[in-house]
Amino acid sequence: MTDDFQDLELQLLMDAVKARYGYEFAHYARASMMRRIRKHMEAAKTDRISDLIPLFIHNKAAFAHFVKDMSVTVTEMFRDPDFFQALRKSIVPLLKTFPFIKIWHAGCATGQEAYSMAIMLDEENLLERCQIYATDFNENSLKIARSGIYPDADLALYQENYSKSGGCKSLDQYCSRGYDSIKFNGRLTEHITFANHNLVSDGVFGEMNLILCRNVLIYFNNELQDRVLKLLIDSLRSRGILCLGRRENIRFSEAAGLLETVDRHQRIFRKKA
Ligand SMILES: C[S@@+](CC[C@H](N)C(=O)[O-])C[C@H]1O[C@@H](n2cnc3c(N)ncnc32)[C@H](O)[C@@H]1O
Repeated sequence: MTDDFQDLELQLLMDAVKARYGYEFAHYARASMMRRIRKHMEAAKTDRISDLIPLFIHNKAAFAHFVKDMSVTVTEMFRDPDFFQALRKSIVPLLKTFPFIKIWHAGCATGQEAYSMAIMLDEENLLERCQIYATDFNENSLKIARSGIYPDADLALYQENYSKSGGCKSLDQYCSRGYDSIKFNGRLTEHITFANHNLVSDGVFGEMNLILCRNVLIYFNNELQDRVLKLLIDSLRSRGILCLGRRENIRFSEAAGLLETVDRHQRIFRKKA
């Protein structure tokens, strides 16, 4: 297939998906999207992208499978422990000055980041005044997140990250164990609302004190990164805090002027007044 035809067929597929389901993938990083599309073409035994149009628009399960593939769900408790350490040291004292705290994890995958936040806030005696919103566009991931159930085999890594992040307890205190699984306590879960939200097609998410959108923007092209950054900034209260992932940057974004840097290395920013 020539590049021109490939571009045209890809555009038609993206338009069809957007019209049918409201999902926009046109601005996802091209190379990784093409890898996933090729995988679905192989499964459908076709060498034409456009053959995926009738498949995706008539077969919801096939499209759900595609969404699942487009969503890289890698995550862990206290991922990048030094980031959580920086959060504890420089952002928690600021949060303590608010009577009520709203936090948004945008692109929460299977929820471990939100449970890590709840544990840290509990240890800082802040959990009672916090509402944590954790969103993703992948319903499969949200289902796991809502359950709060993870493989017991992951607990050793989670414990190591937690200790490195400055945690002094045993994570056992926050979960029950059984059937090769751990389940986080209801006391944590009751402060977290998991919901479906698409950063590309849905709107602003309320007046947040703190937003974490880590390891999500890397999957978008520059234009989409810019759009989503603006949405995140619009969802923050004045002087609210925005945390991005280690490999994400605002330097080349038009929105950079709306933020000041709190911790360059940990990608922690603050909305200007
Ligand atoms: C690699 S995970 C990051 C999880 C967590 N924030 C972390 O850093 O460990 C990226 C998540 O972004 C989500 N995502 C990708 N595009 C999205 C979109 N348009 N709207 C909402 N979530 C999206 C994916 O479904 C995936 O769960």
